[in-house]
Amino acid sequence: MAINKQEHAQWSSSFGFVLAAVGSAVGLGNIWKFPYMVGESGGSAFVIAYLFCIALVGFPILVAEWLIGRRGQKNPVNTFTDVAASEGKSRSWGIVGATGILGGFLILSFYSVIGGWALNYITKVSTGSFSGQDGDAVGATFDAMLASASTLTIWHTVFMVITALIVGIGVTRGIETTAKILMPLLGIILFVIVGYNAMNAGFGEAVNYLFIPDLSKLTGDIMLAALGHAFFTLSIGMGIMVAYGSYLGREVNLLKTARMVIILDTVIALAAGLAIFPIIFNNGLDPASGPGLIFVSLPIAFGSMTGGIIIGTLFFLLITFAAVTSSISLLEPSVEFLEERTSMSRTMSTIVASTVIWLLGIAALLSFNLWADFTIMGNGIFDVLDKLTSKFLLPLTGLAAIVFFAWRMDQRSIQQELNLSGTAWTLWQIIAKFVAPIAVIVVFITTLMS
Ligand code: PFF
Repeated sequence: MAINKQEHAQWSSSFGFVLAAVGSAVGLGNIWKFPYMVGESGGSAFVIAYLFCIALVGFPILVAEWLIGRRGQKNPVNTFTDVAASEGKSRSWGIVGATGILGGFLILSFYSVIGGWALNYITKVSTGSFSGQDGDAVGATFDAMLASASTLTIWHTVFMVITALIVGIGVTRGIETTAKILMPLLGIILFVIVGYNAMNAGFGEAVNYLFIPDLSKLTGDIMLAALGHAFFTLSIGMGIMVAYGSYLGREVNLLKTARMVIILDTVIALAAGLAIFPIIFNNGLDPASGPGLIFVSLPIAFGSMTGGIIIGTLFFLLITFAAVTSSISLLEPSVEFLEERTSMSRTMSTIVASTVIWLLGIAALLSFNLWADFTIMGNGIFDVLDKLTSKFLLPLTGLAAIVFFAWRMDQRSIQQELNLSGTAWTLWQIIAKFVAPIAVIVVFITTLMS
C-alpha cells in the first residue's frame, strides 16, 4: 500500500482486501511448514489438532484483529492504544501491538531464509538438476545447499531485497493484482501434483496418514505446535491482520471474509500434504525429516514425471511468489510503525527494518552450517526464532488480542458491527469470551508443566 502520513490509505475494494489477506495467509506456512510439522508429529493427530485450533481459536482471533484494526486505523501499537483509550481502558494495551510487531519482525528473519531456498530451487529444477535422481541424490543436493553458508546468504539476500523493494516502493497494490492470477495457478499446480501422486504408489498410505484419526499420538506438545501453527498460517498474533484491518472499509463483512480466508488457507495446506507425503512413502523417505521435507521429496517427483522440469520450475516459482506476498505482510507493520512513530520516511523505515531483519536471518542460516554447534537450550538460532515466535509470541499476543476484544471492548457495538443476533451472537460470545482464550491458556499451561 502506498501510505502517506496525512491520509491513511484504504483498500480499493473488499476483493482487494481478501486477496491481500489470502496473500499473507497462504505462504511457506502452508506448503513448507505444515507438511513437515505433520511429519514431525506423526500425522493425523497434528492435522486434527490443527483443524480444531483453526476453527475455535484462529477464526475468532482473525475477526477480532481485523475489527480492532478497522477501529484504530493506524499501526498496531497506536491502534491498540487508541482503541483502548476510546473504550476508557488503559493505554498500555498498546503493548499487544508491540509484541505483535516484534513477532512479525522475528519471523521474517527466518522466513526469508526459506524463501531463499525456494529461489535457489527454481534455478536447480529449471536446469534439470534432478532429472532421474533418486531420494539419496536429491537429499544430498539439499544437504550441500545447507552446508554452504555463502549459497544460503546469497539467496536469503535476494529474497529480502525483493521484499524490501516491494514494501519500500509501496507497490503492494500491484502485487494484489498479480496475486489474482498467480495464487489460483499455485492451487492448480498443487492439484496437478496431487493428481500425479494419486496415480502412483503411496497415495492411499498418505491419505490414511493424514486423515485417519489416531488420537493416541495426541500430546500436549503436539497441541502447542498445532496452536502455534494455526497462528502462523493465518498470520495472526503479530499485528499483521491488525495493520491490514486498518486499511479496511466499513462495508466488508468480517465473518464471511474470515471464513473464506480460512477455508482457502486450509485447503492449500492439506493439498500440500497430499502432494508431499505420497512421494515420501513411495520413496521410503523419513516423514519426520524436518524443515527440508518439501525440498527432499518433491524434486524426486519432478525428476521423474513427464514435463517435470516445467511443472517443478513453475511450482518453486509460485511458492516463492506466495512467500513474497507473505513476507511483504511481515515487513509492513514494522515499516508502518517506524514511519508513523519516527521522522523517518517510508524508504528509510524500510531500509532500517529490513537491514536488521536481514542480519538476524544471517545468524539463522549460519545455524545450519558454521554455527551448527552454537545452541541455546539445545536449539540452534533458526529453531530458537521459529519456536520463540510460533510457540510463545504469537499465541500470547493472540490471547491478549482476543481478551481485549471480548472482555474490554463494548460488546454492543461489536454485535452491530458483526451483524449478529440471537443464537449466532450467543455462540460467538461463548467462543470469543471463553473457548478461544481458555484453549490457548490450557494448551500453554499443560505444555509448560509437561
Ligand atoms: N501466514 C504465512 C504463511 O503461512 O506462510 C506466513 C506468515 C505471514 C506468518 C505473515 C506470519 C505473518 F505475520
